[in-house]
Amino acid sequence: MIEHLAGDDIPSFFAKHGEAEFRRLEENETLLALADAEPDVLSLGGGAVMSAEVRERLRERAFTVWVDVDVDTCWARVSGSDRPLARNELKFRRLYDERRSLYAEVADAIVQDAEGLVLAAAGVVVESGSLARLAQLVPGGGSVALVSEPVVNGIHGADAQLALGARVAGVHELPTGEQAKQLEAVAALWEQLRIRRGDTLVALGGGCVTDAAGFAAATFMRGVDWVPVPTTLVGQVDAAIGGKTAIDLEQGKNLVGAFHWPARTVIDPALLGTLPERERREGLAEVVKTGLLAGSPLWELPDEEQVRACAVYKSAVCLRDPHDRGERMVLNLGHTFAHALEAAAGYDGVTHGQAVALGLLAAARMSGNADAERVVVDALDPKPVRVDRERAWAALARDKKGGRLVLLPRTGSPEVADVAPEEVRRALDALIDG
Ligand SMILES: NC(=O)c1ccc[n+]([C@@H]2O[C@H](COP(=O)([O-])OP(=O)(O)OC[C@H]3O[C@@H](n4cnc5c(N)ncnc54)[C@H](O)[C@@H]3O)[C@@H](O)[C@H]2O)c1
Repeated sequence: MIEHLAGDDIPSFFAKHGEAEFRRLEENETLLALADAEPDVLSLGGGAVMSAEVRERLRERAFTVWVDVDVDTCWARVSGSDRPLARNELKFRRLYDERRSLYAEVADAIVQDAEGLVLAAAGVVVESGSLARLAQLVPGGGSVALVSEPVVNGIHGADAQLALGARVAGVHELPTGEQAKQLEAVAALWEQLRIRRGDTLVALGGGCVTDAAGFAAATFMRGVDWVPVPTTLVGQVDAAIGGKTAIDLEQGKNLVGAFHWPARTVIDPALLGTLPERERREGLAEVVKTGLLAGSPLWELPDEEQVRACAVYKSAVCLRDPHDRGERMVLNLGHTFAHALEAAAGYDGVTHGQAVALGLLAAARMSGNADAERVVVDALDPKPVRVDRERAWAALARDKKGGRLVLLPRTGSPEVADVAPEEVRRALDALIDG
């Protein structure tokens, strides 16, 4: 931006007008950008924080992330370049030392790499053992309503309460499983809550708890802050990220809800240690989906790295499209087929994970992507299900918003495309047994 305004490149601007003039221009432009009412991503040069006014505005107006790179790496990157302040190694190192305290002064988060940056921007923490640090990780100093369900509360509830200490204002249980997402369950929770605006609701559990408790947080007192602490693989790689909250109606799942981005999302992969194998497989289908979208074999990674990589991918897509008006649609890869199969089975007998595995298979086949098809077969081994074909087809037609489907012509490059109904029908039929 500065080069554009000055009509000159930075080395020649420095040479002609000196550093002071450059800093003046930089300060002006930075303050203007920070005054913008619309949210922006601002990538600042290392010297921008030399201005006290910029530091003050950063603290007031921005969520500031310090990408902390060690001095040797920094020097290796800039030495030999035409950067005006990187001509002399000793001076460069001194500048690095001088500026560190200023970075610390403005930083809301300190990260090491681009993935860390995405997570920090989304407010997502992925770290084994983070449950024990809940009191520090739940923003603000106010009271906390801890919401869980009997199974998870029995296993991890005491640790969560211990970690939150004196901040706990109440512990509440929703029913286990999809029952948590019934209006009556949420209504009972609303009645029980004793927190006020400015306090925080912490949701400890799988996707059912985080969806329902998140919805309660979005609506209670017209909205209180909330922090999901997902305890299933589905929750850690998918449901607790992106700010979608929902409950179910008779007519269908997730029909009432709100976008309510969490104040923070605390993901502790160690909590998966107590998750039954069948629940893990449910999550694996979402991991495979994310890996295919991202173009990286995330399903092969160990737990913590796998969860982190999936959280990064979903966070990035949702930050770019928080209200699901565009790009976020790619996260539906395979899901239109999955929903159709689940609906045709009456949500009984086919799990969501099995249905997603089959849906991914159909999407890979329709995209002519043999690699993706092999991945799905190897990692998830989906088997055709016995449901009524006409019911499945009717459900798919209802679900297919605007007639478009997410395809994956190349792994890592999803596309939204129109597909002829006969082709969709053929792909669906191939997933059904008998
Ligand atoms: N909001 C979103 O973006 C989004 C995305 C994906 C899915 N979802 C929703 O998520 C829900 C499914 O979530 P889920 O698969 O996590 O199911 P779930 O919440 O029902 O949890 C599955 C089971 O695992 C048990 N459990 C949870 N954590 C455990 C642990 N650490 N140890 C032992 N047992 C544990 C629970 O008691 C439950 O019986 C669906 O309602 C779906 O609509 C929402």
